[in-house]
Amino acid sequence: MEADGEDRPDDEEAPRGPATPPEPPTSPAHEDEASTPARGQRLQKVLAQVGFGSRRVCEELIADGLVTVNGEVAELGRRVAPEVDRVEVDGVPVGISPGLVHYLLNKPAGVVTTAADTHGRPTVVDLVPAEPRVFPVGRLDLETEGLLLLTNDGDLAHRITHPSHGVEKEYLAEVASPPSRGAVRRLREGVDLDDGRTAPARVALVAPTLVRLTIHEGRNRQVRRMLEAVGHPVVRLIRTRIGPLTDRRLAPGEWRPLTTEEVRSLETAVAESSAAPSDRPGGTGRTDDPGDRGHRGSGSAGAGRGR
Ligand code: URA
Repeated sequence: MEADGEDRPDDEEAPRGPATPPEPPTSPAHEDEASTPARGQRLQKVLAQVGFGSRRVCEELIADGLVTVNGEVAELGRRVAPEVDRVEVDGVPVGISPGLVHYLLNKPAGVVTTAADTHGRPTVVDLVPAEPRVFPVGRLDLETEGLLLLTNDGDLAHRITHPSHGVEKEYLAEVASPPSRGAVRRLREGVDLDDGRTAPARVALVAPTLVRLTIHEGRNRQVRRMLEAVGHPVVRLIRTRIGPLTDRRLAPGEWRPLTTEEVRSLETAVAESSAAPSDRPGGTGRTDDPGDRGHRGSGSAGAGRGR
């Protein structure tokens, strides 16, 4: 993801581990005990840590009344306990819970999207750290490659996969022969499948037999079925974007933790997509190339495999 030009701290390169221990309680003489908890971290510090900008910028967000804690507009000087308080900026929940991890994996073909495969095949969780235990958010078919989110953040996972949200996903599909204009038009209008008509997809031909398809539904084998229905069965399928998340530099089998900025933008994308009508024809069409975010993890199986 590109920096957006705001005053932000450096991208985080370390996994999102437990938060720094809360600061010791301040003297009651310095606290408004009636309206603020006596413990916790200063709100602007917490917001700065998760990527909202410098502490000064975060103080301005608070002063402007954009930050709520447990549903109430926060005032400057407010302290929060990240593990219990619900903090929102402009209505978007801020993921500040300690212990939550979010990994972006480039799933290779032949790896099953499940936590444990009954047939003993390699799974996506074999490719990321074993502790804390994470699970895949949504699924990619056995032979589908590309970006997959794994997390122990059940709340975010639930919101991403819930049908009413429909975060955009972008795929590159290789097909055997160049799609006709009619086929492209049908994809753009919505395709009749056995489980109903799909929402319109955004479609771009990036090469004669390479289709970029952006959808926001999450039906089973949806891209393969859509392309098959218009006469172009998929030869190879790669997911290249999940909402705001992209990474062209992540090799198949590699993973990396999301930055807090990315978690925040994912939260925003989920909130925005739930506000948008369910049959909207795609979204922003971003295909931004992420900058160098440093740390790259390697899974214990299949790390660095070529495509
Ligand atoms: N659509 C498909 O057909 N397969 C996937 O793995 C994901 C989307």
